[in-house]
Amino acid sequence: MHVITSAPGKVTLFGEHAVVYGEPALVTSIDKRVYVRLRLRDDKAIKISAQDLHIPGLIVTLREEEVILETDYGKVIPAISYIKKAIELTADYVGKFRGVDIEVTSDMPVGAGLGTSAAVAIATIYAYLQALKEELSKEEIARLGWRVEKEVQGMASPMDTSIATFGGFLYIKYRGSEVTLRRLKINTQLPLVIGYVEREFKTADMVKKVKVLYDKYPGIVKDIFSTIGRITEEALRALEVSDVIRLGELMNINQGLLDAIGVSNSKLSTLVYVARAAGALGAKLTGAGGGGCVIALAPGRSREVAVAMRLAGARTIDTSIGGEGVRVEKVINA
Ligand code: MEV
Repeated sequence: MHVITSAPGKVTLFGEHAVVYGEPALVTSIDKRVYVRLRLRDDKAIKISAQDLHIPGLIVTLREEEVILETDYGKVIPAISYIKKAIELTADYVGKFRGVDIEVTSDMPVGAGLGTSAAVAIATIYAYLQALKEELSKEEIARLGWRVEKEVQGMASPMDTSIATFGGFLYIKYRGSEVTLRRLKINTQLPLVIGYVEREFKTADMVKKVKVLYDKYPGIVKDIFSTIGRITEEALRALEVSDVIRLGELMNINQGLLDAIGVSNSKLSTLVYVARAAGALGAKLTGAGGGGCVIALAPGRSREVAVAMRLAGARTIDTSIGGEGVRVEKVINA
C-alpha cells in the first residue's frame, strides 16, 4: 500500500522570531504544498528519495567525511533530516516501528523560508500514521511535528508545524509547552507578492544568531520583541476591520525591527524598498531571514511589484493564501 499525503507551506505575516520568545504571531498557509509518498517495508530501513524539489543548480562539496549538497535554493540535506526524525518520533509515539520507502516532492522551493521543513515533517508523520493504521488528533500531529523541528533545529516555535497541520490563518503564541492557537476566519483580501532571494543561512543559524543578541542585550531585545508582539495584536485588529493601509504600515514597522535584530540583509532590504517604491502598502521579510522571502502587500499593484522584485534579482512565487492543512491525497492499494 502506498499513501500520498501533502501539507502546505506558509508565510508569517507578523511576529517571526518574537514568537520564539513568547510573543504572538500571525501566519497563513499558502497554496503550494509538499507531497510525501510512503510505503511500509518489510525490514527496518528508511529509504528516502527526494525528487523534483525545485532545485536548479547543484553544488556538491566533499569535506573529509562530510558530503554537503547545496542548491540555488539552499541546502537539501536538512529536508532529509526532518523526514528521518519524523519517522523515528512517530514510531516511538505509537510504539510501532516499520521501515519505509519515502518519496518527497514539492511545488515550492525547499529551504526558501516558506515552512517547507515543517510541511515535510507533518506530511511524513501523517503518511506514516495512515500506513500504520494509527489515528492521532491534529493537535497531537502538530505537537509531534514541533518536536521534530526542535530536535533537528535546536530552538523552534510551534508556528510552522501548526500551520502545516491546520492550514488557513492562525494566531499563535506559546510559553513552554502551552500553546495558544486561534484559527481565524479572515475576510480581508490580502494580495501578497512573494519575492525570493538566495538564502545564506538556515533557520537554525538565524534563530541562534538572534539568541546571541538577546543574551548580550536582554533588556533591549526583549523590548523589541514585545513591540513586535504589540504590532501583531494591532495587525489582528486591522485584519478584523479590513484596514489594509494600517496592515501595510504595520508590516513596515515590523520589518524595521527585524532589521534591528540582524535578520534582514542587503538583498532582502532591496526587495522591501523596490516593492514599496512600486506601490506596495507594506513589505517585510517573512520567516527566519538571512535571505529567503519578502512579502509585499500590494492591492491593485501586484504585477508592478512582482516586476520590480524580479528586476532587483528575485524570483517571484505566484500563489494565493489559506491552503488546506495536512491531508491524504491518495491511498493506492498495490
Ligand atoms: C521560521 O519560519 C520562524 C522563526 O520564528 C522560527 C520559529 O518560529 O521557530 C524564525
